[in-house]
Amino acid sequence: MQFPKQAPAQVPLPARYTGTAIALHWLIALLLLGQFAFGLMLEDIPRGTPERSYYVNLHKSSGIVIGLLILLRLGWRLTHKPPPLPASMPSWQRRAARVSHVALYVCMLAMPLSGYLASNFSKHGVKFFNVVRWAPWGPDDKALYAFFNGAHHLFALLLAVLVAIHVLAVAKHTLVDRDRLLLRMWPWRGAPAVDTSFKPPVETR
Ligand code: HEM
Ligand code: HEM
Repeated sequence: MQFPKQAPAQVPLPARYTGTAIALHWLIALLLLGQFAFGLMLEDIPRGTPERSYYVNLHKSSGIVIGLLILLRLGWRLTHKPPPLPASMPSWQRRAARVSHVALYVCMLAMPLSGYLASNFSKHGVKFFNVVRWAPWGPDDKALYAFFNGAHHLFALLLAVLVAIHVLAVAKHTLVDRDRLLLRMWPWRGAPAVDTSFKPPVETR
């Protein structure tokens, strides 16, 4: 029997997302984290005060800008195929990755959309960065406002749960499977890894 004389010293680097997809992923992840904390902070500001109006309008404005970035990201995603997943990934994991990514996109879109719709069914509308007032295009309807505000709250919870699962999945790939999946979305190319699983054959003659 012929044994290989040389160990395959390096694990090949995984295929990566495009630079634009990577930049948008991390920019939006950071902005969403900040926007989430900002939303929670709003709950501590007493209602009916000028201070609350100032910060709520700031939250609405930054949320609309993030929403536009999310649309840009979705447009990029729909026109650029992602790199193929590692061949070692079982089919249930591929399906789980696809479903969870779609769910993340749905929540990312639903957050700014539900906030924007709620604002337009209240007399307040949006004062963009506290400078330009956009009058609401809908009626001041308490039931519709409560519906979209409830959706905003629910999608915020769902997004938090999905992001936690997403990060745990990446941690599992990195620490357990060691398939370097994170490098597909990492801004910097990693160095090829040494294959520590290689065991030189022992001749038994
Ligand atoms: C881009 C993503 C956004 C995220 C992650 C986000 C997140 C949050 C969170 C976590 C809260 C506190 C919990 C809750 O009441 O739901 C909140 C509250 C709120 N958000 Fe957003 N938001 C976003 C965009 C927007 C936009 C675009 C608007 C409106 C144009 C908006 C309007 C509001 C309002 C008015 C509240 C206060 C609701 C209340 O206290 O009754 N949000 N947001
Ligand atoms: C608000 C936070 C985040 C959101 C909303 C988010 C969302 C997403 C989405 C939608 C995708 C699918 C990309 C596509 O196919 O278009 C993705 C991929 C990815 N994300 Fe995140 N992400 C977040 C945070 C993170 C963090 C903190 C990490 C690192 C631990 C991470 C690592 C990755 C990796 C490695 C991929 C590529 C997965 C693959 O190759 O299939 N993400 N993310």
